Amino acid sequence: MITSDWQWNEMQQVGTDYNSVEEVAAYDRRMGEFRDVTRENAEMLGMLDLAPGAAVLEIGCGTGRFARAAAAAGLRATAVDVSATMLVYVRQCVQEEGLSEIAMQHAGFLTMEFPPESFDAAVSGAALHHLPDAWKLVALRNIARALKPGGQFILRDVVFVLREGESPEACFERFVASLPSVRVEVACHVAQEFSTYDWIMEGLLVRAGFNIAAKQGVGESFMEYHCRKG
Ligand SMILES: C[S@@+](CC[C@H](N)C(=O)[O-])C[C@H]1O[C@@H](n2cnc3c(N)ncnc32)[C@H](O)[C@@H]1O
Repeated sequence: MITSDWQWNEMQQVGTDYNSVEEVAAYDRRMGEFRDVTRENAEMLGMLDLAPGAAVLEIGCGTGRFARAAAAAGLRATAVDVSATMLVYVRQCVQEEGLSEIAMQHAGFLTMEFPPESFDAAVSGAALHHLPDAWKLVALRNIARALKPGGQFILRDVVFVLREGESPEACFERFVASLPSVRVEVACHVAQEFSTYDWIMEGLLVRAGFNIAAKQGVGESFMEYHCRKG
């Protein structure tokens, strides 16, 4: 819901996204070739170590690979995305895979609405960079609000970590050069999206009320933060 004339309209992102379920299916297949998504999800579920039936939220779910893995593991999964097409695809997969129901909300980090303290854990992968830094804080506070006290949050996204003496430009080139097969897309990400530096992301997480329990680099310029609501 847009509440003020200064509100960031996160639903605008849909214009740059996928328009048909077939396009989404092709994207899902490409992701499967490009990343070991099954292993990523198994690692995240292992890290969260939730009891069966625990409530877990995925924001910016895309094709819902994490939410689907969570449902298959006996968790109560909820998936949020600004793309209606992505959610249609997730619903189709849930049926085809015979999974228990995944609750869905067609919304984003800023507009999702859940009663406070609804979830034991939240996960977001490669999605928060769609928001400028000022709005990332609003998003992270919204996630913290939806988590139970002590609830866990795993954030995975493109984050720039400068090496000793490295310029930002050299860091961007290092990132783009690390993925030659998708150089055009990665260059477009750096030029047009809102990925930020590690010290900013970490400051935002802390400001939003999270303790960063663990962090690790996953490949070039991609960070994983395992946080707890303080
Ligand atoms: C690169 S995909 C990542 C999907 C999935 N999380 C993964 O790791 O494969 C980014 C997703 O974020 C969604 N998105 C973009 N802006 C968003 C926002 N403000 N709130 C929530 N999701 C958003 C897009 O629709 C897209 O599905």
